[in-house]
Amino acid sequence: MTDDRINLTIDGREVSAPKGATLLDAAEQAGVDIPVICYHEATSPNGLCRICVVDVDDGRVLQPACVAECQADAKVETRNERVERSRRTILEMLNASVNLDQAPEIQQMMAEYEANQARFPGARLREAEVIDDNPFYVRDYEQCVLCWRCVQVCAEDAQFTFALTLKNRGHETSVATAFDIGITDSPCVFCGQCVGVCPTGALKPKVEWGMEQGWDEDELRRSTRRRGKRSGGNADGA
Ligand code: SF4
Ligand code: FES
Repeated sequence: MTDDRINLTIDGREVSAPKGATLLDAAEQAGVDIPVICYHEATSPNGLCRICVVDVDDGRVLQPACVAECQADAKVETRNERVERSRRTILEMLNASVNLDQAPEIQQMMAEYEANQARFPGARLREAEVIDDNPFYVRDYEQCVLCWRCVQVCAEDAQFTFALTLKNRGHETSVATAFDIGITDSPCVFCGQCVGVCPTGALKPKVEWGMEQGWDEDELRRSTRRRGKRSGGNADGA
């Protein structure tokens, strides 16, 4: 091992990773797939969802691979019974609180980890009105898994616009504009990067959403026509 590289094993495969590499990076290098939800290559990892947990040296707690750095001579297991049980529980809790109907990757994980959709029958799904307040995209926070990717790309990870933040706490936590003002009154420049990184149907291009609503061509054109940022952007310029 040179000073700037670390040797470890991942699922029995020997890996030499650069110092500072995360377990997720090293696993990718070794051809080992680890599921992610909050992680996105365009955003800073923040270890929020915990779906990427792995077992390092049979440690007391599992470690989130997207933020945990490689340690010399570590033996990492990415898919033992403990890891699977943990991922399954995370998926079951997510499913009990968020509408995941339009999150195909998470649904695929649920099938793969045999998550029980009825594990928490008394749980309450988050409820929110669809926000349709501009010509470019709609926001349906009932489908939001609070991965934070949209907030991050809107801030230091890409756009430096800072239009989004979080409001409320616990079950009521939601992405919102600062002081919950309308998006057209916020600093949003409608770059669309938030829509691009959203892993669920929470953020959707207006055209796609309108087609799902059965809008005809005229309605689509009217509703998505670009108007002055502060016009409110609705079909009638309201
Ligand atoms: S709106 Fe989408 S990208 Fe933003 S936090 Fe929710 S799920 Fe993540
Ligand atoms: S993907 Fe690692 S904590 Fe979410």
